[in-house]
Amino acid sequence: DWVMRDHIAEAVEQIRQQVGDEEVILGLSGGVDSSVAAALIHRAIGDQLTCVFVDHGLLRLNEGDMVMDMFVGKLHAKVIRVDASDLFLGKLAGVSDPEAKRKIIGGLFVDVFKAEAAKLKAGDGGHKGATFLAQGTIYPDVIESGGAKSKKAVTIKSHHNVGGLPEQLGLKLLEPLRDLFKDEVRELGVALGLPPEMVYRHPFPGPGLGVRILGEVKKEYADLLRRADAIFIEELRNFRDEASGKTWYDLTSQAFTVFLPVKSVGVMGDGRTYDYVVALRAVQTSDFMTADWAELPYALLKKVSGRIINEVRGINRVTYDVSSKPPATIEWE
Ligand code: XMP
Repeated sequence: DWVMRDHIAEAVEQIRQQVGDEEVILGLSGGVDSSVAAALIHRAIGDQLTCVFVDHGLLRLNEGDMVMDMFVGKLHAKVIRVDASDLFLGKLAGVSDPEAKRKIIGGLFVDVFKAEAAKLKAGDGGHKGATFLAQGTIYPDVIESGGAKSKKAVTIKSHHNVGGLPEQLGLKLLEPLRDLFKDEVRELGVALGLPPEMVYRHPFPGPGLGVRILGEVKKEYADLLRRADAIFIEELRNFRDEASGKTWYDLTSQAFTVFLPVKSVGVMGDGRTYDYVVALRAVQTSDFMTADWAELPYALLKKVSGRIINEVRGINRVTYDVSSKPPATIEWE
């Protein structure tokens, strides 16, 4: 619509004014905010923007390739993909405490990003180097860091954010989404040509599958979980609620699969199996502070469990999590 086109034109002009002929680095995660920020800044300054996409090996099935296809293949943006999965999995070996895992993942993420940013800042033969760091900060983040929302005295889960990074790197800050609410960011993303499936995707935590594999994280577990989770999400997108006509993906606020590193007995053909268990989690919430487990149709649960057990060798049991928040949290760690 024309209001959005006007808004884009204005934002583009503002970014061009602010950046001039300098260069910008942006940490692309594949999430809504950084994706929309990247698309907008790319629209404004093209190749003066370089995105850094750190793959920590704890992303969902084909997620890294999808991000590259979209930003490099379709938008023709410059993206440096850093495959750091061995580094992350190596440092996570033997660690099972949820907060310790979060700290390791968050810390490594910042280290890897900083190293890439430092290279870009230094520039190379004749190339003058970046002077701006762009972030997909949106209005609710601005309010939150201003303390208005910090009434919560106890940290239940340490969410990693990259606060203070521009200062540490000696880069100027570019935050073109600072005045926007989430809904406006999504609309902007669609208007910029990002696919609605990307823009309306459920939130995904920074530590990724690292907090959806209970206890120690192993590549074997992550590979099984990725395949099971992709089946769950695919079927949530396939099944529609007749009354509203919406898919169950759109009717839930967040849905995912959790890997339980315990084995249970099953039977397949003539044989006995002794394999891992996964839990399906789907919630409905307006603010993620409280949440109800979603009353998914039995037919959907049946399809998902049948497919996971038949298609993912190594998993022989699927459970459904019927816990609300509070007292449970949305993620299992
Ligand atoms: P909980 O599990 O606390 O989750 O009920 C509430 C929302 O926060 C997300 N979440 C995280 N996001 N880093 C993130 O970026 C984290 O460490 C983290 N832990 C939880 C969770 O996915 C849900 O949307």
